[in-house]
Amino acid sequence: MHNAPMDTPVNKSSDNMESQVTIKDALSRPLHDLRISLLDRCNFRCPYCMPATEYHADYQFLKKQQRLTHDEILKIAGVAANLGVRKLRLTGGEPLLDKKITSLVSGLAGLPNINDLALTTNGMLLAPVARQLADAGLHRVTISLDSIDEQVFRRMSGNRGDLQQVLRGIEAASEAGLAPLKINAVIQRGVNDHTVLPLLEYFRGSGHIVRLIEFMDVGNRNGWRMNQVVPSAELLNIIQDKWPLNVVGQNYPGEVARRYTYADGQGEIGFISSMTKPFCGSCNRARLSADGVLYTCLFATNGTNLLEPLRHGVSVDELADILKRIWLQRADRYSELRRPDVAEHHALSKVEMYRIGG
Ligand code: GTP
Ligand code: 5AD
Ligand code: SF4
Ligand code: SF4
Repeated sequence: MHNAPMDTPVNKSSDNMESQVTIKDALSRPLHDLRISLLDRCNFRCPYCMPATEYHADYQFLKKQQRLTHDEILKIAGVAANLGVRKLRLTGGEPLLDKKITSLVSGLAGLPNINDLALTTNGMLLAPVARQLADAGLHRVTISLDSIDEQVFRRMSGNRGDLQQVLRGIEAASEAGLAPLKINAVIQRGVNDHTVLPLLEYFRGSGHIVRLIEFMDVGNRNGWRMNQVVPSAELLNIIQDKWPLNVVGQNYPGEVARRYTYADGQGEIGFISSMTKPFCGSCNRARLSADGVLYTCLFATNGTNLLEPLRHGVSVDELADILKRIWLQRADRYSELRRPDVAEHHALSKVEMYRIGG
């Protein structure tokens, strides 16, 4: 079993001189996290992410040759680790649709300097592979689960999800030691906000950390409206009426969730409040899409294509120069600059969430 680190110093010393490099972007933010989307497919059709009307049977997802190979991913991740990246998160779409994910995890776990290796999944395919993933070196998993109500859950997965199967996946991950386990729930007014307390109740005392996420204006196809956002402050009041909470500090610099513990000792919950309390000031994440584009913001309209240089035999040093250049120029802070009234009418050009994995 591997324990997830609770603290991730950026300037960790090591035998490898390169590993001591810390590059800072134009707003003095270090590069710390790399989020890697393995594929753009998903076995769910969550209406806020991949509405079934748009992502139908004929939809053209990326073909295998358009996607980064595992060797290419390892090359990029290795270079990123030398430039200060300490945390890797595998995402999708649904990353467990990649049948060879276990060997990729082994490779990533073997990279120097990586002290947090996590996976985000919808949990449907998790139960049979949780043990193999842990054995391959995965530290922990985060499961997206928007409701503990069977019907609401089913609807929010676009009629694809089976709640009991996801719960079995959570159980298997827990048994495999993929902890701390986190449960991510996107809360939408009028859709699942009435099921927040039952969700918290279900996981209270389990050791798993539920995080309530404000519905964001990410992508262009989910029909986002500000009136569907439930501000974290509102949820906090409702929760505190039932279970008093204590604030706790960050686990690591740049953590997006604000953490609380139940005063009665039944565990931790978190709020991810990108709409009402943006956290761009400490954003230290780069995102790699399955087709090899590196994005420096979740709301980016474009990124840098790494697939092409990779397929033309770019050297490790050249790749490092490309990554450095991208990060040094970075000045993104979309959530801090957005105005909800403008966001509702934003041009149809942002990258879709399922392509860069949330
Ligand atoms: P831990 O490593 O467990 O702290 O989680 P994480 O920080 O990697 O967060 P996770 O991938 O679980 O992200 C949870 C949700 O937070 C995502 O699905 C997004 O909704 C939101 N989120 C994560 N990163 C960002 C970000 O950089 N910007 C914004 N605006 N939202 C983010
Ligand atoms: N707002 C907030 N979170 C979102 N996710 C997907 N779309 C949105 C959105 N519009 C989350 C999913 C999952 C992660 C991959 O991204 O719930 O936890
Ligand atoms: Fe799939 Fe996650 Fe998007 Fe739902 S939110 S469609 S599970 S990628
Ligand atoms: Fe980072 Fe962009 Fe999110 Fe701000 S909006 S926290 S810059 S990913």
